[in-house]
Amino acid sequence: MGGRDGEDLARGRRGLRSRAPYDCRVGTCRTCESRLLFGEVDGAVTTLADGERRVLPCVSYPRSDLVVIEPSPG
Ligand code: FES
Repeated sequence: MGGRDGEDLARGRRGLRSRAPYDCRVGTCRTCESRLLFGEVDGAVTTLADGERRVLPCVSYPRSDLVVIEPSPG
């Protein structure tokens, strides 16, 4: 969850509640894929058919003051 403007979500996890793991940090392995539960994010965001938003925290940045993510179930 959360992050300061311009701060990589995966690297800024001190303030995050998500425990999303990450590996490549360049948006290719999808290890860090997380559900975007609240807030706006710039970067690798995908909206699934059911409206669920997924984000790759390693290459995405918070656009709103509060962002809530949780590790994707798969
Ligand atoms: S850590 Fe590989 S896509 Fe994010």
